[in-house]
Amino acid sequence: MSIKRVAISTGGGDAPGLNAVIRAIVLASAKRGWETYGIRDGYNGLLLPERYPDGGVFKLTPETVRGITHQGGTILGTTNRGNPLKFPVKNAAGVWEELDRGDELVRLFRMHDLDALITCGGDGSLGIANELQKRGMRVIGVPKTIDNDLDGTVITFGFDTAVAFATECLDRLHTTAASHGRVIVVEVMGRYAGWIALNSGIAGSADAILIPEIPYDLHKVSAKIKERDARGRQFSIVVVAEGAKPVGGSTSVIGKSVGQAERLGGAGQHVAAGLEELCGHETRAVVLGHLLRGGSPTTFDRLLSLRFGAAAVRALEEGQSGVMVALDPPTVKYVPLEDATRRMKSVPLDCDTILTARDVGICFGD
Ligand code: F6P
Repeated sequence: MSIKRVAISTGGGDAPGLNAVIRAIVLASAKRGWETYGIRDGYNGLLLPERYPDGGVFKLTPETVRGITHQGGTILGTTNRGNPLKFPVKNAAGVWEELDRGDELVRLFRMHDLDALITCGGDGSLGIANELQKRGMRVIGVPKTIDNDLDGTVITFGFDTAVAFATECLDRLHTTAASHGRVIVVEVMGRYAGWIALNSGIAGSADAILIPEIPYDLHKVSAKIKERDARGRQFSIVVVAEGAKPVGGSTSVIGKSVGQAERLGGAGQHVAAGLEELCGHETRAVVLGHLLRGGSPTTFDRLLSLRFGAAAVRALEEGQSGVMVALDPPTVKYVPLEDATRRMKSVPLDCDTILTARDVGICFGD
């Protein structure tokens, strides 16, 4: 089937680099004489057109995407409450239910004369993309998430920017922690994977890093802080992934709404309170949260995003569907969406980054 009209959607949490991907897709498509269309807020533009003055699907041209490579966020909008396979709908009794609107979405897609979809998303959005291609849509996925927890690619775009910002925050917190002789606990996002905590914690010289992959014992962290005290280092920095959990305990979950994933939060506060009690040190907790998703993408993320966007267009030109573009240095390759979304990419306990952290004396609470 020849391509004339390509749709682009961005789903789930935003990540720095989304606009660069969109720009590359639009420009590479225009070069091939294809038109590009943006779907607003994940798939809501197609499923809830009445919400949007422009009908929810709008034309993207090289002019529309001028000067957006360095901008955070997404010009298409996004949502993590718009899973078409579990769409939140209020029933007659006023209760929220999850409805499968996948087949309807495929029909609406065809009604708009759209030939193919390039969708940027994390594990949730690309899992949906995989199901949509099984139901007849021509789909290419682009791996986006600050969490870096997608399998099949060495790295996702957005991750480098999040780590760079977290590292800068750790640098800033060091000086205030040292000046006051305090323990500062810094909670970072990352869902059930510890990539952001691990990489920023090492780069930012944290004393302890707690990640979901290694359940922690606070007594071990406290011992590390006391050992620093004994060496005259009266302050410590502890990085806590939001998904970190104590040995025998569970992840700190704030809640879950219909059609949404679990919301994590409170892990840093929990660790800070526990450490204050165990060490008797004045302790503060800082939650970096959504700050990690904002701002301009780093050079690495800009380049990766542009490469991913252009590679997605080349995949369509080659007649591919049901694949995700992936970084496999020095090149970009294609992996089946089925493989990329089968399991979450956790931090391997024997990876050299963990070994490096241990070698430079960082405590994991184990
Ligand atoms: O997946 C990206 C992410 O930022 C996670 O790190 C975090 O747990 C979640 O999204 C937060 O989602 P929300 O924007 O719904 O608060």
